[in-house]
Amino acid sequence: MVNVRKCAIIGCGFVGAASAFSLMQSGLFSELVLIDANRDKAEGEAMDLSHGAPFARPIEISAGAYDDIADCGLIVVTAGANQKPGETRLDLVNKNVGIFKQIIPEIKKRQCEGILLVVSNPVDILTYTALKLSGFPPSRVIGSGTVLDTARLKYLLGQRLGVDSRSVHAYIIGEHGDSELAVWSSANVSGVELYRFCELCGHFEHEQNMQKLYEDVRDSAYEIIQKKGATYYGIAMAVRRIAECIMRDERSILPVSSLIEGYYGLNGICMGIPTIVGSEGVEKVVDVGLSGDEQLKLLKSAESLKKVLDTLDL
Ligand code: 2OP
Repeated sequence: MVNVRKCAIIGCGFVGAASAFSLMQSGLFSELVLIDANRDKAEGEAMDLSHGAPFARPIEISAGAYDDIADCGLIVVTAGANQKPGETRLDLVNKNVGIFKQIIPEIKKRQCEGILLVVSNPVDILTYTALKLSGFPPSRVIGSGTVLDTARLKYLLGQRLGVDSRSVHAYIIGEHGDSELAVWSSANVSGVELYRFCELCGHFEHEQNMQKLYEDVRDSAYEIIQKKGATYYGIAMAVRRIAECIMRDERSILPVSSLIEGYYGLNGICMGIPTIVGSEGVEKVVDVGLSGDEQLKLLKSAESLKKVLDTLDL
């Protein structure tokens, strides 16, 4: 039996702990289990978070073990090494696939019927790894994909145009990493085509400006890691948003990573594509309509992921 009010987080590093903090404050769950190879770390985080319980909606937070995930509605995996300054997400692949080869079979053994949300990097490769090793149906294996990158894009556009970032509709899709792309062709501000809105705000050098914005989004994590060693608040907010969408069966469209079959001719990889997300996990991958140039960039992004997948023994 699945308890939809129960969530487990595997990995209590910066991202796991920040995600626990954001999920605790979301009010979505009444039970949060923290699992880490370092039991003391999980216990310390559980204690620290629990002391905030009187300021939140009732929630029980504990350090646990794999047996505790059997009835979880959501399992968030954040375990693994994170990028050092100058490292790409793909540089982490061997180390983190190795870690997933230990974690995912433990999840599989518990025959959990909840949804698996992969956050560790490289997230698209690890979502695919989790799918292969868990035996879960593809709809129940989701990666955080380009949800954070898309938020970064909306934030920067909102700042530039002096408008609420929630009124900005634009996606970053593909790999959560260096080959990702911005979908400018359908970008808009509350229905007003993006370039027209830019002109209303006195901005005219569209291609040049958008390229710079895209690069800023793509390179955000490098800049943050250079300055403070790791990124975790942004991704923790993205985890909360995805969890909310699943737990409340919102059917919102988020660019999560999931198994792609027949999307612009792509098959057998996981990457961030706008997707209807609800209580069953992935409900439908959505074709938002890509220009010819965007299609080419998406294929390139897929190729770079495929190249890495081909080196793995899953
Ligand atoms: C981020 O984009 C590092 O993937 C992490 O913040």
